[in-house]
Amino acid sequence: MPLHIDALGACNNEFGATVTGLNVADTTQRDIQDIEAAIDRYAVLIFPDQQIDDAEQFAFSNKFGCMEKATGDINQNEDRRLALDINDISNLDKNGAVLQRDNRARLFGLGNMLWHSDSSFKTIPAKYSLLSARVVPEAGGNTEFADMRAAWNALSPEQQDECKELICEHSQLYSRGALGFEDFTAEERVKWAPVLQPLVRQHPTTKASSLFLSSHIGTILDWPVPEARLFIRDLTEHATQDNYVFAHEWKRWDLVMWDNRVTMHRARRYDHTQPRDLHRTTVSSETRLLDS
Ligand code: OGA
Ligand code: MN
Repeated sequence: MPLHIDALGACNNEFGATVTGLNVADTTQRDIQDIEAAIDRYAVLIFPDQQIDDAEQFAFSNKFGCMEKATGDINQNEDRRLALDINDISNLDKNGAVLQRDNRARLFGLGNMLWHSDSSFKTIPAKYSLLSARVVPEAGGNTEFADMRAAWNALSPEQQDECKELICEHSQLYSRGALGFEDFTAEERVKWAPVLQPLVRQHPTTKASSLFLSSHIGTILDWPVPEARLFIRDLTEHATQDNYVFAHEWKRWDLVMWDNRVTMHRARRYDHTQPRDLHRTTVSSETRLLDS
């Protein structure tokens, strides 16, 4: 049966689509090609009713490229609830209990509520993220997505020229620092030393240009820090206006897949005493954007 793809309607019907008529645990090569074509066009795909386990999620994700390890969080191996192939996007400890309000891993995880592109703080950032909803709170906890192609296209030629050659420093020390979270170990400070990424990138397949923004940005190379932060803040404000954004309201067993190369996303607030459990697999971009 062919896939069914319905645009969500954001950004002139070119941002976000729902994919039905498919079981992600049982796909053909043709399905994978159709999904790749759809994500190139819509950037975010929603697959409702996909009741999968971690192994099935990993196997499906791996059809789109090499997998990233979940090395972006602060859980030591002995504290991990999930295998290192799976990013634990939850508010639960390894026994399944809801984290206390002042728990360090929880406070670190609040960084996901800032607009970002996954793993932009790694020299090789993420291509696709796939997020599976296992437990969702009764209210709140949406994920919002912003289209960085539309945001780029809406800039004036002068603004585009100003952005084109700029190189940004990305680090989780910056994104968490912006929330006042400074509780890093010496080891984490070394592990998350800033990496350089261009501010403007081109999608390898569609050739679309987009803004490579992320709350992980702390400065622009050769710029004074306050000026760089203001510039990035202004651009982020521009890029996350309502007309480039849609909100996904989670239902249990939704699987949402997005292309980090052309989008930003953020989580929204919910009652932190209720469990929220999402599992993320991440497909790597495989190559660096800059040579050094
Ligand atoms: C992520 C993420 C947002 C959310 O999984 O990468 O940022 O709503 N999640 O949990
Ligand atoms: Mn994320």
